[in-house]
Amino acid sequence: MSVITVIPGDGIGPEVIEQALVVMDGLGTGLEFDVLDHVNASTFLRTGVALSDVDFRRVSASQGTLLGAVGDPRVTSSEYARGVLLRLRSDLDLYVNHRPARLLDARLSPLRDEQRRNIDCVIVRENTEGLYAGIGGILRSGSTEAVAIDAEVNTYYGIDRVLEYAFSIARRGVCLVDKSNAVRSGGSLWQRCWAEAKQRNPDVPVTHLYVDAAAMKLVSDPASFDVIVTNNSYGDILSDLAAEVAGGIGAAASANINPHTGYGLYEPVHGSAPDIAGTGVANPLGAILSGAMLLARIGREEQARALTRAVEATVTAGRCTPDLGGDLHTKEVGAAVLAELG
Ligand code: NAI
Ligand code: MG
Repeated sequence: MSVITVIPGDGIGPEVIEQALVVMDGLGTGLEFDVLDHVNASTFLRTGVALSDVDFRRVSASQGTLLGAVGDPRVTSSEYARGVLLRLRSDLDLYVNHRPARLLDARLSPLRDEQRRNIDCVIVRENTEGLYAGIGGILRSGSTEAVAIDAEVNTYYGIDRVLEYAFSIARRGVCLVDKSNAVRSGGSLWQRCWAEAKQRNPDVPVTHLYVDAAAMKLVSDPASFDVIVTNNSYGDILSDLAAEVAGGIGAAASANINPHTGYGLYEPVHGSAPDIAGTGVANPLGAILSGAMLLARIGREEQARALTRAVEATVTAGRCTPDLGGDLHTKEVGAAVLAELG
């Protein structure tokens, strides 16, 4: 039997993951869920351990992981989030962060232009290097002469493999987003790898945009994008923007994957949302759609499609949480999706 690790995490994480598990149970997936509900900020505050080696082994022995969100206002150091999420991304070498942005219903778009607002793209974010690689430090910490440095790591190996993935999923084209006009060394390495990747994929239409122009175009002409490939930090930011253009971050799903090993960590794009945690209004659709991405990756495409269709039907019927203009609670949305599944 396939075992899936579940890390509900903090804030609204457990609330949305509960609904993802309810609908996956309803689908009759027969999956076994290994729930690590002790991996959270409270445990970290008590023990100083973010993700133990024992838990890491449980994760790596499973077929995939579904994660809610990590982050808690009581935790001020970045060690906690780094110790869970960034550790999983880097130690499992999940070098692709695949983030689809698709308008589920026209009514959800914040944009006026009907021709151009129909966003249906994927942001492919390099997930193991860049500014989030953790290379750096603080000199003269705590003093008024403090110097803080975070190095942006760009390797040929890392860029080449994420570009290759982007080309492999392209339907209409690939757009490289960088800032090679200002970030010189990293920018020129991305450009070199880009030139080689284009040569290997001569049939795929390509474009290139600087990240500031890409942010603009995601608002002015989002429908023009198919696959956007970019580095870790630009991908982080642009995927929240794309999610909002697609109707809201609460419904955005993502997959952290290693295309070679096939392992994936699936999570909604949003964080732990402490501002609404415990109020019962968190949108569970991002978590549910992340579950659908997981199913698709482990060879259950039919179940994944059924789940995605059920989510679309509930959104079209307006059976949503307040962030999508509805008046349902988290659990009621889960129940509505379950009802659609029949
Ligand atoms: P956030 O995504 O948690 O919240 C941003 C805004 O969106 C808030 O107003 C929130 O109420 C709303 N929102 C988010 N998810 C929603 C949902 N499912 N339904 C309805 N509204 C939703 O980002 P924020 O506030 O920057 O971060 C909060 C905490 O989460 C921080 O500790 C941060 O580090 C962490 N975080 C964790 C992530 C992860 O685990 N992958 C990703 C992003 C942030
Ligand atoms: Mg983010």
